[in-house]
Amino acid sequence: MPTYRAPRGTRDLLPTETPLWTRLERLAADIAARYGYRRIETPVFEQTDIFERGIGEVTDVVEKELFRLAPRTEESESWALRPEPTAGIVRAYVQHGMRTWPQPVKLVQTGPMFRYDRPQAGRYRQFWQFDVEAIGDPGPAVDAEIIELGTHFYREAGLAGVEVLLNSIGDPACRPAYVAELAAYFEPHRAELPAIERGRLDRNVLRLLDSNDPAMAVINAKAPRITDRLCSACEEHFAAVRAHLDAVGVPYRLAPGLVRGLDYYTRTAFEFYVTGREGQQQALAGGGRYDGLVELLGGRPTPGIGFGIGLDRLVLALIETGVAAPAEAAPAAVVVGANPDDTIARLQVVTRLRAAGISSRAELGRRKLGKQLEAAARDGAHFAVILGDELTGGGVALRDLSAGTQKVVALTDLAREIERAHAAHRHGGGAA
Ligand code: HAM
Repeated sequence: MPTYRAPRGTRDLLPTETPLWTRLERLAADIAARYGYRRIETPVFEQTDIFERGIGEVTDVVEKELFRLAPRTEESESWALRPEPTAGIVRAYVQHGMRTWPQPVKLVQTGPMFRYDRPQAGRYRQFWQFDVEAIGDPGPAVDAEIIELGTHFYREAGLAGVEVLLNSIGDPACRPAYVAELAAYFEPHRAELPAIERGRLDRNVLRLLDSNDPAMAVINAKAPRITDRLCSACEEHFAAVRAHLDAVGVPYRLAPGLVRGLDYYTRTAFEFYVTGREGQQQALAGGGRYDGLVELLGGRPTPGIGFGIGLDRLVLALIETGVAAPAEAAPAAVVVGANPDDTIARLQVVTRLRAAGISSRAELGRRKLGKQLEAAARDGAHFAVILGDELTGGGVALRDLSAGTQKVVALTDLAREIERAHAAHRHGGGAA
């Protein structure tokens, strides 16, 4: 047993795993750019107040899962690691006066989030989200656009069988009456409620609906539905979101029980699942509209919508469904030498190749040539550049490791020669 291990609920992503992550991060950046989202980076910790106000004090994320940083004596503020990016991005929108920019401001961020959750498969204390936010557009078209972006991402990532669950959870016009009705519904069940839900009955009754306590499932099934209590403005908005989704051919399933676990949501709420997994609190992604959040964090009233895609769960789902991970990149060339001691010559040649943009490695140990060549083949390199007597005449031997052919090339032509043959090789063409 090693003395030190990664903290519980976290893990190392090893080079054997990261090619898949790199592919997904590049795809996320590429799709976000295609849809006009611009990159923003916010700190991984913020004032605790931003999360307490934004996400809500009576939520799992804040009550149970917030990684609070121990205050230092000289500081008066308290901070916490971000459990999600939306609150921080909205804080940045207000702080930098983005309301004067052309609206909506469309922002993307991909990075680690932190929740002190009970670790299990697909639930970590440090996990990654690909997050997009469109701030300053009341919808409904942008709601459909952002959901379509999500389905597009999963399609290009290669994950089949992803389902969108959709709901509307009302706004300050219709929600208070619904919440009162919900409280009246739960009241006779007070004694049966798990302790934490009993406490929430008086403080944030909506959260009872997304409880993951199995004891709540039966009671929740009979609870009144927000979808039946929407005001006409919310009803119209919801119908228009669906019409836009239908028009661009995005299938979805209505989920009247879906209320999301964070307090900032208004109207549109949605989650993505691997079909058939929605009962297991294993959403691939979740998001929705938050028309009150900018104001709550000190800005002028501004609508917004966004979602977060969990990358850890996507990776697990891709592996489960047998989607092949991309191979680790092999160097185009490995520089080896007949004289094991001449590391200077090998380092000089590889430095030249890299300066010319060629991914290459040199044998910097002092193994015999045969061993050096074996290692080059194991690396999956296309070429071995063999330094020997030819070097005195300004040449090296260039061996195509897959074709088994070899020729002498002038050092000055080496990079160009490798580039040409490597490109032909990548496109299925001939050898050196
Ligand atoms: P969320 O539903 O809390 O929403 O998280 C979004 C996604 O992050 C989840 O669907 C899941 O895939 C992933 N996730 C959450 N917690 C964990 C965990 N402990 N381990 C692994 N993956 C996890 C939000 O965070 C909102 N900020 C989404 C949003 C953006 N709404 C509007 N804009």
